Amino acid sequence: MADSHSGEKQQAGPGGAPGHAGRSGGQGQGHIPLWAAGVAAIVAGGLAAGAAGLLSNIAEHQGEAKSAFFKVVELSDDITDPAVWGKNFPQHYDDYRKTVDMVRTRFGGSEAEPRTPTASDPRTVVATSKIEEDPRLKAIWAGYAFAKDFREERGHAFMLEDQVFTERQQVAKQPGTCLHCHASMFGVYKKAGDGDLTKGFEKVNPMPYAEAKKLAEHPVACIDCHDPASMSLRVTRPGFIEGMKAWKGQDYDVNRDASRAEMRSYVCGQCHVEYYFKGPEKRLVYPWHKGLKADEILSYYEENGHKDWVHAKSGAPALKAQHPEFELWSQGVHARSGVSCADCHMPYKRAGAQKISDHHIRSPLLNVNRACQTCHRFPEDELKARVEAIQLRTYEMRNAAMDAVVQLIDDIGAKRSAGASDDSLWPAQSLQRKAQFLLDFIEAENSTGFHAPGEAARILGKAVDLARQGQVALRDATFTPTEAIPPRPTTPGPPTTSAPVGAKGEK
Ligand code: HEC
Ligand code: HEC
Ligand code: HEC
Ligand code: HEC
Ligand code: HEC
Repeated sequence: MADSHSGEKQQAGPGGAPGHAGRSGGQGQGHIPLWAAGVAAIVAGGLAAGAAGLLSNIAEHQGEAKSAFFKVVELSDDITDPAVWGKNFPQHYDDYRKTVDMVRTRFGGSEAEPRTPTASDPRTVVATSKIEEDPRLKAIWAGYAFAKDFREERGHAFMLEDQVFTERQQVAKQPGTCLHCHASMFGVYKKAGDGDLTKGFEKVNPMPYAEAKKLAEHPVACIDCHDPASMSLRVTRPGFIEGMKAWKGQDYDVNRDASRAEMRSYVCGQCHVEYYFKGPEKRLVYPWHKGLKADEILSYYEENGHKDWVHAKSGAPALKAQHPEFELWSQGVHARSGVSCADCHMPYKRAGAQKISDHHIRSPLLNVNRACQTCHRFPEDELKARVEAIQLRTYEMRNAAMDAVVQLIDDIGAKRSAGASDDSLWPAQSLQRKAQFLLDFIEAENSTGFHAPGEAARILGKAVDLARQGQVALRDATFTPTEAIPPRPTTPGPPTTSAPVGAKGEK
């Protein structure tokens, strides 16, 4: 279906990608490989800071567009304001600011809903409420803050304000950990940790959200993904750095060991992942110790006994999954073929004589020409139709799983009201916990199955099966489920009636 990838090595230095770099194009459009070296050489050549000069102008491959950037300011790790970085890279900055756009696709994008501002929430526009769209979500999250407010996600420009003003903040006290993925945190962690990012992370996590929020100024910014001296990609989030160690081994250092092609996905994996808050220090943990698959993550939680909250109707110690884009993508054919998040969500575009990565990060379906057609020579309508076919199938399965989980919750709830003990209900509650997490994993994943269609179907199929087994377990005490039922988690959880905060925070 796709052209073969051109196996070019794209970056000088040890971090370069061996094999293909996750990007083909068929026109030999490589990508400013020696850019970093060019900057260093010219800066060393004595360009006066502050004066506009030609920073680099390198055409290394045949047919390669020239990439020219003018250095207006000297960037460093102390400059956190993206507007200042934008002086050197005005086109990137312009595109970055376009993430305020709200355009709907069939299953993605977002729609601008007008809203009357109030004293506690000055937003005049919000994204669509998902719990109003599908009230079954309120049933599966009963007793948890998500049943109060959960919206379609929108562009990066909104990440900080949407977190500040979500009604979930009013239901439960949130910790500073929330900011890890909702603000430019490089400078904040550095300052709080006296130059040490991890120390800063540990300091900010347990702070009350309102206090920690005072330290943050911008949504995710240039400094969170780029080294100021070379502009090469870097990971700045301790949660991701530690998650990769849990998955690949304690010796793994993502900034040292990842290829450039991998970094084109890892910078996004800093935030678009499943997570929980561990212990009283509210440490952000990515639960990848057994692997990135939904069932491997579930099995990690089963072993450590974590629960996010206790379900208000069924009494099950439940789990909430969220935005596992990185994990689901990793199970699909695009990841297997080396196609990165940036290939589809930040495709190259022309800017005058240059070719740059589109920093208007959004749904690729609003940009099929550049996001897909560089690799797939099908008409735009055909490509869109293929995506929607995958999404419609996923959505149908998701609905079947949602019905099954809601019916199990109702059945457990009915027995509970009739006086059944939590002990006798535990096998069914445990199956609810499992089925619901698997359903939620695909529900919370934002591509509606596209990132890995076969895997999404497998997980949803398993969710339906486990929910129905839960119903059988309620009716027949001798029934043996296909999955082991672990002991009831004993992690102390907060009360569910007044302040439904989970150990994970509420997310
Ligand atoms: C092969 C192309 C491709 C790759 C690679 C890819 N995505 Fe996607 N992504 C899509 C498509 C297509 C959609 C569905 C968009 C829609 O429904 O409007 C999507 C949806 C999304 C959404 C929801 C967007 C919205 O508008 O609602 C997010 C967030 C996302 N992807 C993040 C990622 C991350 C993070 C990675 C890497 C770990 C990644 N994607 C890799 C193609 C891709
Ligand atoms: C591991 C990174 C990460 C952490 C930690 C995190 N978020 Fe998010 N959050 C995201 C991503 C990615 C999205 C966009 C995808 C989505 O909405 O599914 C998002 C979306 C949101 C949204 C907009 C959509 C919605 O749910 O209404 C709100 C509000 C939000 N988060 C609040 C919070 C709060 C409150 C916390 C702390 C309890 C938190 N987030 C912690 C990554 C994170
Ligand atoms: C610092 C954390 C963070 C990083 C890094 C990050 N995102 Fe996001 N992303 C978010 C949050 C939070 C939202 C939701 C914001 C909201 O709803 O207010 C979001 C929203 C999105 C959306 C939805 C846009 C829309 O218009 O609906 C897409 C697509 C997306 N991100 C893709 C990516 C890709 C691709 C990367 C890597 C190049 C990336 N993100 C890196 C946190 C992050
Ligand atoms: C969420 C991560 C992320 C953020 C935030 C981000 N970038 Fe990038 N940027 C990327 C990725 C991914 C690439 C592609 C790099 C590669 O392929 O090596 C890139 C590439 C670049 C390049 C190299 C040329 C090109 O276009 O490929 C420049 C210059 C750049 N970004 C500037 C900026 C500026 C300026 C900002 C802030 C306004 C910014 N970036 C914010 C992820 C990010
Ligand atoms: C960098 C190249 C590249 C880009 C960009 C790309 N793809 Fe692909 N795509 C591939 C490769 C490689 C495969 C695997 C083909 C194979 O092995 O037959 C693939 C497979 C697919 C499949 C089959 C999926 C499956 O699970 O079997 C679909 C559908 C698809 N791509 C759609 C898209 C869409 C839509 C976009 C844009 C949002 C896109 N691709 C962007 C390279 C790419």
